[in-house]
Amino acid sequence: MLAGKAYHGAVRGWWVHLATLAFDLRYGVETRTIVQHDGSGRAQPGVHTYYQRTPPGRFRRIMAALDVDAGRFTFVDVGCGKGAVLLLAAKAGFRRVIGVELSEPLAASAERNIEKSRGIPKDDVAFDVVCADVTEWEPPRTPLFVFLFNPLTAEPLRTFLANLQRSLHDAPRPAYVVYAYPLARSPSFPVQVDEFDAAPFLRRIADGRGYVAYQTSEPAPA
Ligand SMILES: C[S@@+](CC[C@H](N)C(=O)[O-])C[C@H]1O[C@@H](n2cnc3c(N)ncnc32)[C@H](O)[C@@H]1O
Repeated sequence: MLAGKAYHGAVRGWWVHLATLAFDLRYGVETRTIVQHDGSGRAQPGVHTYYQRTPPGRFRRIMAALDVDAGRFTFVDVGCGKGAVLLLAAKAGFRRVIGVELSEPLAASAERNIEKSRGIPKDDVAFDVVCADVTEWEPPRTPLFVFLFNPLTAEPLRTFLANLQRSLHDAPRPAYVVYAYPLARSPSFPVQVDEFDAAPFLRRIADGRGYVAYQTSEPAPA
């Protein structure tokens, strides 16, 4: 049984590796190398600085499942790393795309990747990479599509969700929140679906392989 699981994990790992390599070659970018530490000296205790990108197939499956009118929403990648998801969001039809990233070198990589990418409708898309701690960042007062690939540990995640709730309460507008998580379980990167389920302003609308999605279109309670 365990051998079967290990085999499937290894096959999935290789498949994801090939898909991310194909993505980088197709768009002329470098997003696939994992970064264990951001090297910026800004890491804080309890904050992830581990970069690993969302597998491209997973992102496309999420968008297909949600059927969002992308042009109406500002896309936000919380912890955008090297910007792979920002490029996928532009391909998916979002016209305002923001990445918030704690690590200066990773934020610089995201900017470089956007700059040199091919085959992305860049003229029609307003990209913005913000180098900041997302727990101190104010989202724009537009309809939001917020994407997270396991960027935060529990404490900063709660702060981020509380800030988002306040922002949606102060300026009511529709919002999606998608939480994607690694399929390989690890004690250093626990899956935190419970934190999202506990957020009173979020209603779960989808639950797929490696992600959960939420929506709020009501004025969020304070
Ligand atoms: C697992 S990676 C996901 C990268 C990207 N979103 C993707 O899916 O391809 C998580 C990222 O979150 C960033 N991060 C961690 N804590 C953060 C914080 N407090 N504010 C902004 N970014 C943060 C890390 O540096 C890392 O690049």
